[in-house]
Amino acid sequence: MTGGRLRTHEVRLRSGRVTLRPLTEDDWDMVVGWWNDPEIAADADANEGPYSLGQVQEIMRGISRSAFCFIIEFEGRPVGECWLQEMNLERVLRKNPGLDCRRIDIEIEKADWGRGIGTAAIRLLVEFGFRSEGADAIFAMDVADDNPRSRRAFEKAGFELYDTVPQPSVARASVSHDMIIWSKRYVGSLAAE
Ligand SMILES: CC(C)(COP(=O)(O)OP(=O)(O)OC[C@H]1O[C@@H](n2cnc3c(N)ncnc32)[C@H](O)[C@@H]1OP(=O)(O)O)[C@@H](O)C(=O)NCCC(=O)NCCS
Repeated sequence: MTGGRLRTHEVRLRSGRVTLRPLTEDDWDMVVGWWNDPEIAADADANEGPYSLGQVQEIMRGISRSAFCFIIEFEGRPVGECWLQEMNLERVLRKNPGLDCRRIDIEIEKADWGRGIGTAAIRLLVEFGFRSEGADAIFAMDVADDNPRSRRAFEKAGFELYDTVPQPSVARASVSHDMIIWSKRYVGSLAAE
């Protein structure tokens, strides 16, 4: 899990003004800034930071072993990051034996919220996950109950509620939501268009 450099890739995805390009070892300053931005972090990870450069590198290099990690660009300007990762949580793996389950994680600078960038990025990852990677299902994990913006962005990209999970008493929201989009339904909805 730890050690080594970032696993890179050559995947570039684009929809209108939104581009997902590979995360590289030159992007750490931006990523550290986003992880430590209190307004982003409050919604993204239940305030587990602040993170040092070394911690961010270790975590992201570890995630990259089983993920496609991207910088989100809006009109050529980096505004956030996202990734499509092999499912790593037992509560999902246990219930879906033999299925290729992935998860999406995403964060965008607050100044650029509400412009459709999140929805566009999620849609791009979903299309890539199903069409190129052959995933069976893609999840958004731990969407806090008081983060309707995130929930709405995933819903607009076709996700539905999968499970509601109680949170520890120290957490800001008492429950969080896992969301899912199934490949079969996604392919079916495209065929119906
Ligand atoms: C979650 C996030 C990625 C969404 O990206 P975004 O570019 O802001 O999302 P979009 O603009 O595509 O869509 C947001 C939707 O939420 C809606 N929304 C915003 N605030 C809302 C609220 N309080 N209640 C209900 N809907 C809300 C917006 O109106 C929009 O829907 P619409 O297009 O139907 O009007 C981004 O806000 C972010 O990075 N947040 C901080 C980190 C985070 O929460 N990550 C996800 C962790 S699960």
